[in-house]
Order: sequence, then structure tokens, then C-alpha cells
Amino acid sequence: MSPFLLTRTLPDDATGADLRADVLHGLTRTPKTLPPKWFYDARGSELFDEITRIETYYPTRAEREILIARAPEIAAITGARTLVELGSGSSEKTRHLIGALLPELHSYVPVDVSESALRGAADALLADRPALEVHALIADFTRGLALPGTPGPRLVAFLGSTIGNLLPDEREVFLKSVRSLLAPGDALLLGTDLVKAESVLVRAYDDAAGITAAFNKNVLAVINRELGADFDPDAFEHVARWDARREWIEMRLRAREAQTVKVPELDLVVRFDAGEELRTEVSAKFRGEGVRAELAAASLRLDHWWMDEESRFALSLATAV
Ligand code: SAH
Ligand code: AVI
Repeated sequence: MSPFLLTRTLPDDATGADLRADVLHGLTRTPKTLPPKWFYDARGSELFDEITRIETYYPTRAEREILIARAPEIAAITGARTLVELGSGSSEKTRHLIGALLPELHSYVPVDVSESALRGAADALLADRPALEVHALIADFTRGLALPGTPGPRLVAFLGSTIGNLLPDEREVFLKSVRSLLAPGDALLLGTDLVKAESVLVRAYDDAAGITAAFNKNVLAVINRELGADFDPDAFEHVARWDARREWIEMRLRAREAQTVKVPELDLVVRFDAGEELRTEVSAKFRGEGVRAELAAASLRLDHWWMDEESRFALSLATAV
């Protein structure tokens, strides 16, 4: 068998139907919102990779530090033969884990909505490790996954604190669906960014070079291209705000002036007041006890909690019980 398989698990029109439903729902409610998964077309995936290299965006570096230190331990504890990664993006940090899991590792199953990210990641991985079996899935991890029948034990990795981009009730449903992918004794490796000083958080989400602003506005370009809308990205300002009560960063797009946007594919005209804000992402920050409780509610037992030197980010290893 070829070492690279790419499977689209959604029907061809499902992505379009989901986008239409999300845009219709999100732009006709008050306050307006859009789900963050629509950032990630090919350009959005590239912009996210640029974000990971920004000096003030510490999560990627902090998580990589933990992975490098702990990958051998993770491999010894889990003995995983299949590594499934949700929202795998470039799979760049995952290389450390794959390196430690080999030679026992049979298959790597990256799952992402971004086909370009999956293809780029597989090309890079297979250039280094031509024998690795990569079975990539273009899929929405919030929609229930059908995984290939590769051998266990199975380790599901969900890195980058992407779990923080789900709302608390979405996280509860999501963790239960992850648990349903695991047999007792299988494991989940979960990356979570931790609560810290507001100034550090806001700098991570509002960089001086404007890369995060471009990433935020990319969702408007996606809606323009896919639904024929006429958003003017320059008519919106990037906003990153810390919500101390809910302990999450919110990214928003603020209308610089009153304006009307047409979305012909939905037969929709959307009015923005001057200063009105559209929420495009939450990025929740976590505490150890909260993570333990959320995992436990999904029948996942937190066995290991590892942090980087500066205690900015945590990797949890949890066992399915
Ligand atoms: N895990 C990588 C990438 C994080 S960026 C890292 O830690 O650096 C978030 C990734 O999740 C992107 O590649 C994006 O395309 C993907 N993603 C976001 N929402 C998704 C969803 N609902 N289903 C599948 N993938 C999703
Ligand atoms: C993918 N996700 C965990 C990133 C985050 O930090 O919430 C997305 C991001 N948004 C702005 N910068 C990066």
C-alpha cells in the first residue's frame, strides 16, 4: 500500500453547506459571530504557520519544548501503534512525537479541515520518513469521525490548545466524542494554554507586524470567495480582548464605519453599525483543575500534567477509562 492516503470524510458539498449555515446564523444574530474553523483555507493555514513564528506568540514554542522533553515518556507510557492528530495543521511539532513512537508506530492519521495543510504536512513527513504510513483525513473534528482500522493502542493528540477555540459546551460534547474513538487504556494527549498576565496574552493575539490581524480578516476573504460576498477587509479593524471572567481571549473584527455587506449566495444583506464587532474566535486559557474536571466528565483520567519551564502551557496525558 502507498504510505500516503488522503480521505475526504465529508460529502463534497458538506463544507459549503456548513459554511452557508454558519454565515447565515452568525451574521443574522446579535452580537454577530463566526466559528473559527473558517479561517483555515490555504492562505489561513499559511498565516497560522506565520503566527507560530512570531516572537510574542509563545504557545507553539512552549508546547514544542514540552514535547521534546516528554516524547520518549509519552511513547513508553502509551506504546501507541496508531497516532491520530486532530487539527494537525503543519504537523511540525508532532515530528518529535512520531520520532519517539517509531519504530513501533504503524500509522499516523492527521485530521484537518485544511487539505493544503494535510498535503504539505504529509509531503514533509514522508520526505524524512518514507516508510511511515500516513492516512490523512479531511474532516471536521466536531462532527464525529470515522477513523481507519489501523492497529491499537491508539493515541489521539490534540495540540496547540486548539481545544480552547471551542466554547465550554462544545468542549464537553467534543471530549465525549474523542472518548468514543478510544478503547479503555488508549490515551489522549491534550495541549492547553494556561491563564497568565493579560499583557502577555494580548500581545500574543495582537502582534506588531499585523500577521494575526491578517489571519483574523482572512475569514472575510473566505466568505467573499465562497459565497460571493463583498466584505472590504480594510473596513474592519482587528481586536484582541481578554475576558477575565471567562478566562478567554476574544478575537473580533470591528467595523470602522457603518456599512452594508451583500452575501448573494445566501440572498442576504448584513448591516454593520460603526464600531460594531463581529466575534471570530475565542481562545480559552486553562487551569489544571479545570482540565482535569473536563477530562473526567468525558471518562478520561488525567495521569500526567507537564508544563514548559515558564509554566505558560501544559500537555496532559489522559487515559480512557
Ligand atoms: N495542531 C497545530 C495546528 C493548530 S491550528 C499546532 O498545534 O500548531 C488549528 C488547526 O486546526 C488548523 O490546521 C485548522 O485547519 C484545524 N481545524 C480548525 N477547526 C477544525 C475542525 N473543526 N475540524 C478539523 N480541523 C480543524
Ligand atoms: C489554533 N489556535 C489554538 C490558535 C489560538 O491561539 O487560539 C489560533 C490563533 N488565533 C490567533 N492566533 C492564533
